Amino acid sequence: MRVLIIGGGGREQAIAWACRQHGHDVRMASDIGNASTFDTDLVIPGPEAALVAGTSDTAAERGIACFGPTAALAQLEASKGYARDLATSLGIPGPAFARFTDADAALTWWAELGRPVVVKLDGLAAGKGVALPCTDAETRTAIAEAASTGSFLLEERLTGPECSLLALCDGTTAVALPLAQDHKRIGEGDVGPNTGGMGAYAPAPVAFSGAELVETFVQPILDHFAAAATPYVGVIFAGLMLTADGPRLIEYNVRFGDPEAQAVLPLLESDLAGLALACTRGDVKSVPLRIKSGAAVTIVAASPNYPGEPVIGHPVTDRGTDSAAAFRFDAGVDVDGNTSGGRVLATTGVGTDIAEARAHAYERMAQISFQDMQIRRDIAWR
Ligand code: AMP
Ligand code: GLY
Repeated sequence: MRVLIIGGGGREQAIAWACRQHGHDVRMASDIGNASTFDTDLVIPGPEAALVAGTSDTAAERGIACFGPTAALAQLEASKGYARDLATSLGIPGPAFARFTDADAALTWWAELGRPVVVKLDGLAAGKGVALPCTDAETRTAIAEAASTGSFLLEERLTGPECSLLALCDGTTAVALPLAQDHKRIGEGDVGPNTGGMGAYAPAPVAFSGAELVETFVQPILDHFAAAATPYVGVIFAGLMLTADGPRLIEYNVRFGDPEAQAVLPLLESDLAGLALACTRGDVKSVPLRIKSGAAVTIVAASPNYPGEPVIGHPVTDRGTDSAAAFRFDAGVDVDGNTSGGRVLATTGVGTDIAEARAHAYERMAQISFQDMQIRRDIAWR
């Protein structure tokens, strides 16, 4: 197949890698441009922005199969308020929440709740729209700041380990990829500011199967959209928190996770492009989902000062090469081999278990360097 992947980060490199493993002819581009059925059999959009901007709608107009939801359905990620309202109406377990445009109303709701809250901007904020205040004073500040931007949500603050459920959806049916966990904080031991993700591993050792979690968190969404005659095709990525009362929905994303995709896709034995195409035809079950035994661990190398404004333009040196056990996915490396973004690259190691996969990932990372590279030494410590 001729597969066009939209986007150029580590996630998209992992999607490309998975497609190439099965002999597909992969091209990458920053947008769908003038791709046509003459040169593309399948489009796989990577980032949510491409979906929200209507990549799938454009592909549909041109008659090209596209593995991703329409702009209208991408609201599931683009509006946290819409996603929460929908999930609640479908009985999907989540935190107590309410939507606001006004600080006073939010302060009243928080006082009545009587517990710590999380403050979220309603719209897409590239991972920066969530405040997790620790004190009452910080909560008041976060509410005031959110109110100054427009609509926002307060949610009851849940606690527990998180996991990422990635499901491939064909409009009526979803199949789960191995559950993953990512490491969002910049600092070892999960401290410091949030980032896009400093590493991930799969399968995550959690007490629930992917199939069970799909039943609770994905199937009701598919049923809802199918009943509305707007079937959902693409990835549904449910961010879950495993609380003492059971798994709870933190958020929906309408695309693969990054860095989760870099750990999960190397565990896929089946042909990703074949599965994605089957989804666009409403028949994901026509391609058997085969998952490799063992585990994968992904380590991200970030630029100095990330997640603040990254210091870029440093040459990347690599004394090694990829093998079947460990490989490199670039995210922010320019054509001259210099760093060009916050998250620069990642290495993924695979192995019979997490410990072996982790060793392979760190061995590969030890061959790579650039000035003041930031990596976490404790990925998969949990
Ligand atoms: P989100 O962008 O909605 O995924 O939120 C980013 C991160 O904030 C999540 O991965 C969680 O670590 C945290 N978070 C979001 N919502 C909640 C919540 N209701 N309770 C506790 N932590 C949360
Ligand atoms: N790693 C979380 C995300 O892709 O949103």
